Amino acid sequence: MTTHRAAFDPTRVAQLSGRFAPVTEEVDAVDLEVTGTLPDSLDGLYLRNGPNPRFTPIGSFLYPLDGDGMLHGVWMSEGRARYRNCFVRTPGVLAEEKAGHALWGGLESMVMPTADQVGPDLAGTFKDLPDINVVRHAGRLLALAESACPFRIGPGLETVGKETFDGALPAGITAHPKVDPVTGEMAVFHYDVEPPWLTWSLIDRTGRVTVGPTPVPGVDEPLMIHDMALTARYVVLVLAPAFFDLTAALHGGSLIDWRPESGTRIALVPRDGGPVRWAAGEAFWMWHTVNAYDDPAGPGAVLDYVQWPRLGLGGPPAPDGDRSAPGAQRGLARAVVDPVTGRIARTLLDDAKVEFPRVDERRIGRRHRRIAVAAVSGDADGLLPGEFDSVRWYDADRPDAPPAVWRGENLSLGEPSFAAEPGRDGEDEGYWLMFATDRADGGSSLLVIPAQDPASGPVARLRVPVRVPLGLHGVWLPTQE
Ligand SMILES: [Fe+2]
Repeated sequence: MTTHRAAFDPTRVAQLSGRFAPVTEEVDAVDLEVTGTLPDSLDGLYLRNGPNPRFTPIGSFLYPLDGDGMLHGVWMSEGRARYRNCFVRTPGVLAEEKAGHALWGGLESMVMPTADQVGPDLAGTFKDLPDINVVRHAGRLLALAESACPFRIGPGLETVGKETFDGALPAGITAHPKVDPVTGEMAVFHYDVEPPWLTWSLIDRTGRVTVGPTPVPGVDEPLMIHDMALTARYVVLVLAPAFFDLTAALHGGSLIDWRPESGTRIALVPRDGGPVRWAAGEAFWMWHTVNAYDDPAGPGAVLDYVQWPRLGLGGPPAPDGDRSAPGAQRGLARAVVDPVTGRIARTLLDDAKVEFPRVDERRIGRRHRRIAVAAVSGDADGLLPGEFDSVRWYDADRPDAPPAVWRGENLSLGEPSFAAEPGRDGEDEGYWLMFATDRADGGSSLLVIPAQDPASGPVARLRVPVRVPLGLHGVWLPTQE
C-alpha cells in the first residue's frame, strides 16, 4: 500500500524532539561515574525499552506505539556499573539499515515497502515494533511489542530473533505479560483486527505453552487493550471502548474510535479454564494496571490501575469534542470487580497526574502494599505529555495517608522499577531504579532510590555517557533469582 498522510511533518511531533528525540549512537561504557554510593547488594541488570525510530519516520508517528525498539541496559555489581544501548534489530530495522532510510510508515499511514525494496518475505507486511517493554521468563529475555511477536534478546542485548514460543503463539502476545511469582507461569493475551479478536494463553515456568490462544467470548469487534492483570484465580482484562477503525486511519482519521456509550467491561478469565465472568460500568481508559488480587470478600477481584477519562492517541479530535465519560477522572484508582452483580465499583485513590505504576513484582497477583508511580508535580514548566518530574509512593493499606513524594527538580524521570535486596522479601527492602534526564543539559543518569526512605531521593546517580530518550518500560533482572 502506498497511502500517504500528506501533512505529516516529523519535526512537529513532540515525542520525536527534545528529551524524547531518538538517538542513533550505540554505546558500550564501563565504570560509569557514580555520584553517591552504589549499594554492593545490587547485582544484576536494569533494562529499559522505548520507541526510538532508527530513521526519520515517514507517513505518521503514533507515540507510544510507533518507533523501533532501543534497549538501554545498566549492569551493576560490587558497587560498579556499565552501560550499553542497542537497537532491537528486527528484519525491518535491518532492511532499513540496508536502504539507509525508513521504508515503513507509521501505524496510521499504512505505508509498507514493496518486494523491490525489501524482498518477498517482508513486502506488504506491518513492521515489527518490539519497543515497549522487556520481560525475562523461563530463560528467555524478550523485547515486547504491542500485541505482536516479541523478539528474543541475548545476554549482550543482541537481537536473536522473533519469538513464537515454539510456534504455539504465532500471532504474538501483549507488551505487558504477567508472571505469577508463586507458580512461575506467565499469562498473556493478544488482540487483533480480525477474528478471533481477543485471546489469552498461559506459558508455564519451563517456557511451554500450556493454554494456547483461547478466544474470550463476548468480543466481536477489534479493540485495543494495552495491559492486563493477574490474580491467583483470574486473568483480568479491561475492555475499554477503544475500537480500531482501519478505514478511518486510511483516510487520515484516527486509528482508534473512542465510543464511551459502550462503557468499559472487565473480564475475569479463570486460569483453570472455567467460564469467563464479566462486570461492566461507565467508560474509562486504562493504559496500565498496578496489580490485582482475588477479592477476599467475594468471588471477584480487586484491581489497582491508572485511570484516564478517555484514550487519546494521535489523529484529529473527535468531531463532538471531548468525549470523556463522566466519573472517570484521571489518577490512581481502584476497581472492585464483582462478577455476581456484574458491577465495577471504582474509587479514585489520588487525582495527581501519574503513570507507569509499579509494585514489587513478587507481589504480582497477590495483595500488594507499596505502589510507585511517575508523576507530574505541577512545579515544572514545559513538560511534554508523557514526561514526569517526580515519583510518588503509596501505601495501599493506608489509602488516606499522603504518598511519599520525591521531586526530581530539574530531572525528567522515567518509570520506577523495584530491585529487591537479596534474601529479603519486604516491599520496602530494596531500591527503586529509574532513568532520569536533566532538562538543563540533556545528560542522563540512572537513579537508585532507597525504598525505606524514598522521599530522601537517590543514594546513587550513575552517569550514562549518552542521552537516554524518555521512554517506556523497564525491569530489574537480578543475577541470582
Ligand atoms: Fe505500557
